[in-house]
Amino acid sequence: MQSFDEIREFAKSVLSEKRFLHTLSVAEEAKELAIIWGADSDKAYLAALIHDIAKEMSFEESKEILKKAGLPNDFSRPLIHGPVAEYMAREKFGIDDEDVLNAIRYHSTGRVGMSHLEKIIFVADFTEPGRIYQDSKEVRELSRKDLDDAMLLQCDRCIKFLIDTGKIVDTLTVDLRNSLIKQQKRGKDK
Ligand SMILES: [Fe+2]
Ligand SMILES: [Fe+2]
Repeated sequence: MQSFDEIREFAKSVLSEKRFLHTLSVAEEAKELAIIWGADSDKAYLAALIHDIAKEMSFEESKEILKKAGLPNDFSRPLIHGPVAEYMAREKFGIDDEDVLNAIRYHSTGRVGMSHLEKIIFVADFTEPGRIYQDSKEVRELSRKDLDDAMLLQCDRCIKFLIDTGKIVDTLTVDLRNSLIKQQKRGKDK
């Protein structure tokens, strides 16, 4: 596996300054959440460093990479960077930790049954301090108290935003939201 320094340098070389700073900020945020919630902070840092590595690659190139690798490539424009980053993590950086790979892959959609690490990257991407909107501050505050409650609020706000702006809502996110609500209900029924 490549070192953190090498991966960070690669990220710097392929991302705009703004996105590179976002990446570093997600990495710090993810590390902090990992410490709070008892996850592996090195894995959190690593997954965060890579999560947006393919974000500035063209849609055509992204599709081509997945196609050549024999992987599904029918992702929408905003979501393809997750699967491509996962592929790069595996092939370019030599990462074989499935939890880290899944955290990278599902960082923007989430999914039902996420691991601790996956949840941390999903939330940290939304709550890193560079995100100045109110929604993000509220989720950040909640993420220190209850990670699942924070994810539910994040899903609600993201889905609402996507609907309000006429964009596609991925079914993975809808399913995640529903499963979190069911889980919350079960908790209250106890
Ligand atoms: Fe992303
Ligand atoms: Fe991101």
